[in-house]
Amino acid sequence: MRPSTTLSLSCILPLLLGPVQAQEPGQRWGSSNSSGYISKYATALRSAGLNGFADTLTKINGTAPATALFSQLASGRNFTVFAPDDAAIRRIPAAVSQNRTLLAEYISYHFVDGDFTNRSDTTSSGGRGPGASQTETATAAQATAALLGRRVVLRDEDWCGGGGGGSNNSSGPAPNPPPFAGIWPNVTLGRTLLNASALVALGAHKSQVLAWTRVSPDGNITILNQAADTTVGNATRWRNLSINPINNTLIPPGNLTTALTAIKASALQGVLGGVQIPSARGVNTPAVLALQRARGITVFVPANDAFTDAVNGSLQGLQGNASALTALVQNHYINGTTLYSTQLADNTTAVSAAGEPLHFVTNATGTFVAGANSTTARVVHPDVLLDNGVAHIIDQVLFAAESDPAQAASAYESATSAAAAYSTTETGPIGVGPGGARPTPLTSTEPGGGGGGGGGGMTTVTVQPSYR
Ligand SMILES: *[C@@H]1O[C@H](CO)[C@@H](O)[C@H](O)[C@H]1NC(C)=O
Ligand SMILES: *[C@@H]1O[C@H](CO)[C@@H](O)[C@H](O)[C@H]1NC(C)=O
Ligand SMILES: *[C@@H]1O[C@H](CO)[C@@H](O)[C@H](O)[C@H]1NC(C)=O
Ligand SMILES: *[C@@H]1O[C@H](CO)[C@@H](O)[C@H](O)[C@H]1NC(C)=O
Ligand SMILES: *[C@@H]1O[C@H](CO)[C@@H](O)[C@H](O)[C@H]1NC(C)=O
Ligand SMILES: *[C@@H]1O[C@H](CO)[C@@H](O)[C@H](O)[C@H]1NC(C)=O
Ligand SMILES: *[C@@H]1O[C@H](CO)[C@@H](O)[C@H](O)[C@H]1NC(C)=O
Ligand SMILES: *[C@@H]1O[C@H](CO)[C@@H](O)[C@H](O)[C@H]1NC(C)=O
Ligand SMILES: *[C@@H]1O[C@H](CO)[C@@H](O)[C@H](O)[C@H]1NC(C)=O
Ligand SMILES: *[C@@H]1O[C@H](CO)[C@@H](O)[C@H](O)[C@H]1NC(C)=O
Ligand SMILES: *[C@@H]1O[C@H](CO)[C@@H](O)[C@H](O)[C@H]1NC(C)=O
Ligand SMILES: *[C@@H]1O[C@H](CO)[C@@H](O)[C@H](O)[C@H]1NC(C)=O
Repeated sequence: MRPSTTLSLSCILPLLLGPVQAQEPGQRWGSSNSSGYISKYATALRSAGLNGFADTLTKINGTAPATALFSQLASGRNFTVFAPDDAAIRRIPAAVSQNRTLLAEYISYHFVDGDFTNRSDTTSSGGRGPGASQTETATAAQATAALLGRRVVLRDEDWCGGGGGGSNNSSGPAPNPPPFAGIWPNVTLGRTLLNASALVALGAHKSQVLAWTRVSPDGNITILNQAADTTVGNATRWRNLSINPINNTLIPPGNLTTALTAIKASALQGVLGGVQIPSARGVNTPAVLALQRARGITVFVPANDAFTDAVNGSLQGLQGNASALTALVQNHYINGTTLYSTQLADNTTAVSAAGEPLHFVTNATGTFVAGANSTTARVVHPDVLLDNGVAHIIDQVLFAAESDPAQAASAYESATSAAAAYSTTETGPIGVGPGGARPTPLTSTEPGGGGGGGGGGMTTVTVQPSYR
């Protein structure tokens, strides 16, 4: 007979002994010995029934992105893993699975930096307990109290049980609370380990993010921006990894064109097709290409319904006025800065690429953005991820043809220098501060703009997503 809840010494010690000892796994399983760590991890995955994911780790072993990934995992820091089940692994497109380097890059997108465990969720089953609100954050003290409140029995050193699931297999996985997840349209975002330059062009060379949510308070966690519905299963914990099975393999975000097609924003695509954006050197570039070359961008995409007869009439009135049309497009994006929905703090302002204010309001009705010509639009679908930033779908055209090039240049400059100074990586939900308050007021805008960079030529292999 085994007790229903067991915890290993390696899970308890860091909690009891504090931060210095919490680093101990890093020394014990350090990067100099990452292959030993990965072999044990693969074995652990197999005992959790994730054979395909374990095989994939072995398959990518030796490629540059896998070496980087494995040494991070073996560092002892916490990571949240979204591990595709066997059927999902079998569905990886040949164009990805046959290129081990590309496959390793895709696999890196399944690892999120940090421990997202929602310790206040007391259900060890479906990951949908009453504590699943994103406004709850457990402190280390609360976590310790919660763990010590349970019956603690030392056993297999690697599996750390967090719940009352009752595994009878001493080497098998123990249940763990699910990750934090906002309730739609609130989204939880985590920074992944994918930073391959062919797939990601965020400011400050940041890694790509992953977005997830719960469609209803008692629903399963769903990964956003994926072509197929991707559901997160019950979590387990192994050493420093919280392992969350998913029934689909994740595809990193593609370019703006791919995203606009996926969300069927054909009206904006039509407008972009007729507009040129002047570059720093005074050369005009088609808007779509200019947007795709930016490093770090936030695009407010009016839904097709926003193009009413009145709006189309006003647009008609601007035909022949190229600079007004350019300003109108530029008033729909921020150049050099990526602001996810959780960072659109109430009563804050950012500067559009036209140099005009974009004012954000977040209240009980939702998140709103007001443009220079006092149109207020509601964000109806946040966080459509792009390889170089993020898009938010809004319900109105921000009809503003004003521009202030000096303001635009200075906002871009400060985004670029903020990016240069950027050094830390988020290890918790992006835009959610200690205590779970959402969103954290922006002290400055999130660093976005990187240096020049060749831009263009993204080599994303994607299936056509139909984002939810
Ligand atoms: C990865 O390759 C190294 C060196 O070739 C080997 O020692 C290790 O066992 C391999 N790891 C896995 C998980 O296959
Ligand atoms: C990793 O997560 C565990 C459990 O969630 C926590 O107790 C520990 O302090 C974290 N370790 C580090 C190095 O952050
Ligand atoms: C494999 O993928 C890598 C990384 O995306 C890419 O650089 C390389 O050209 C690809 N190799 C082939 C043969 O397509
Ligand atoms: C989690 O496990 C419980 C049984 O322990 C099951 O009822 C539930 O459907 C599982 N949730 C998911 C998302 O697989
Ligand atoms: C949650 O996922 C489980 C396992 O895939 C499934 O059986 C269940 O129907 C899902 N629940 C909801 C509310 O979608
Ligand atoms: C994943 O599971 C959910 C819930 O059971 C289901 O609705 C969805 O279609 C599944 N996705 C795939 C790709 O099988
Ligand atoms: C962003 O600003 C830089 C510097 O002014 C400019 O060269 C570039 O064209 C702008 N990009 C977009 C998409 O507006
Ligand atoms: C918004 O911020 C401004 C300037 O900081 C302040 O004067 C104003 O009272 C705030 N409005 C609301 C509704 O909080
Ligand atoms: C939230 O802000 C929007 C835009 O300013 C406003 O229209 C709406 O009435 C506000 N809702 C509440 C509940 O204050
Ligand atoms: C403000 O918006 C209206 C339509 O709502 C438009 O007719 C007018 O030209 C806009 N003014 C400027 C300066 O963009
Ligand atoms: C989303 O977050 C806001 C701000 O924290 C909160 O007021 C709102 O209730 C949340 N909405 C849902 C559906 O959880
Ligand atoms: C966007 O990405 C798709 C898929 O990789 C690619 O086929 C397309 O050429 C890209 N579009 C542009 C304008 O770069």
